Amino acid sequence: MSLMNWDAESYAVGVKFADEDHEKLFNLLNQLHSLVLDHANRDLISQHLDLMLEFLYAHFAYEESLMLDKNCAIDLYTAHKLEHAALIESCSNIQIQFNTSQLELSEEMFQMLKKWLERHIIMFDKDYAEFLM
Ligand SMILES: [Fe+2]
Ligand SMILES: [Fe+2]
Repeated sequence: MSLMNWDAESYAVGVKFADEDHEKLFNLLNQLHSLVLDHANRDLISQHLDLMLEFLYAHFAYEESLMLDKNCAIDLYTAHKLEHAALIESCSNIQIQFNTSQLELSEEMFQMLKKWLERHIIMFDKDYAEFLM
């Protein structure tokens, strides 16, 4: 069974680019999770981790730039950017440690990422919809 299951009723924010990106993020995370469960080659896992995080960081940057362009409430923008920054810091640490063989990608980490994404989409991304639609 997949780590994350996209369903519009639970996760759609109603903004096209965001819903498409979020669904793609779920898929990228599922693929990474499967590679780890299948004990894939470390280089392959590393490449996929880099690809997923590159996509995640670009998504965060685009959300933030649109929130500014569409004059989203500044308190929403600031809190949202802080949330993104905290996850970027955690993921960057994981990425560096994995890529230098100091750490393995554990089930606990996947569960943390899954919970973070679900909570963030529901509690933060849904709040920008009224400004971005
Ligand atoms: Fe998002
Ligand atoms: Fe976000």
